[in-house]
Amino acid sequence: MPTNQTISQLQSTDRETFFHPSTHASDHAHGKIPVNIIQSGNGIYIKNQQGTELLDAFAGLYCVNVGYGRTEIAEAIYEQAKKLAYYHTYVGHSNEAIIELSRRIIDWAPDGMRKVYYGLSGSDANETQIKLVRYYQNILGNKSKKKIISRDRGYHGSSIAAGSLTGLNLFHQAFDLPIDSILHTLAPHYYWNAEDGMSETEFSQHCADELEKMILMEGPETVGAFIGEPVMGTGGLFPPPEGYWDAV
Ligand SMILES: Cc1ncc(COP(=O)(O)O)c(C=O)c1O
Repeated sequence: MPTNQTISQLQSTDRETFFHPSTHASDHAHGKIPVNIIQSGNGIYIKNQQGTELLDAFAGLYCVNVGYGRTEIAEAIYEQAKKLAYYHTYVGHSNEAIIELSRRIIDWAPDGMRKVYYGLSGSDANETQIKLVRYYQNILGNKSKKKIISRDRGYHGSSIAAGSLTGLNLFHQAFDLPIDSILHTLAPHYYWNAEDGMSETEFSQHCADELEKMILMEGPETVGAFIGEPVMGTGGLFPPPEGYWDAV
């Protein structure tokens, strides 16, 4: 374990040189919020530099689905990096690792999924979703059918277009978002948004009706897609109310 001096040196270098996402820049730079340096992880636990072990109930940012410290994965990455650390896949170039991974993903995926398109992050994946909607509608000649309806409190990323799909003010206000052609409908949060006396299934129907109203108001010929997390995450971890997806 490093000495306190080393920890405070690291923390001060962090404050001087590292621009953190979703962190108040001035408070960080001026020491008003702690710099919690995570040193290692094993299974569901992480350990910080002070040696305190914490149960990581958040799984990183909900992405460490296989747990920390998986040596077989580290070794596979090491072997591949020695053999071929990078090559692009443009104009038909491929490699054994990506071919094998694509086949495995398709085997695991629900019926109807036939091909894998790779990205580097969730935001990047949702940028691609928006591009696919535009690409598809352009091929069909539906030049104006490009609006996408997302939901208040939905989270789809933090880049310009994916951040626009996100339905949280914090991700919009300082960045002039959302961009044109992205709209937000009611969050399916029964506790916050249901009117008095509404049952859960009535509220689900109400959410679907609100979505339909928006589509009709905008003009169905202008709406290309609807996007929603099956279970909301960053905007509040709540499962959809009963019957929601069927109604939508
Ligand atoms: C549902 C969902 N979509 C997109 C993202 C954005 O992913 P990333 O942080 O990798 O850009 C997240 C991240 O938490 C997410 O939960």
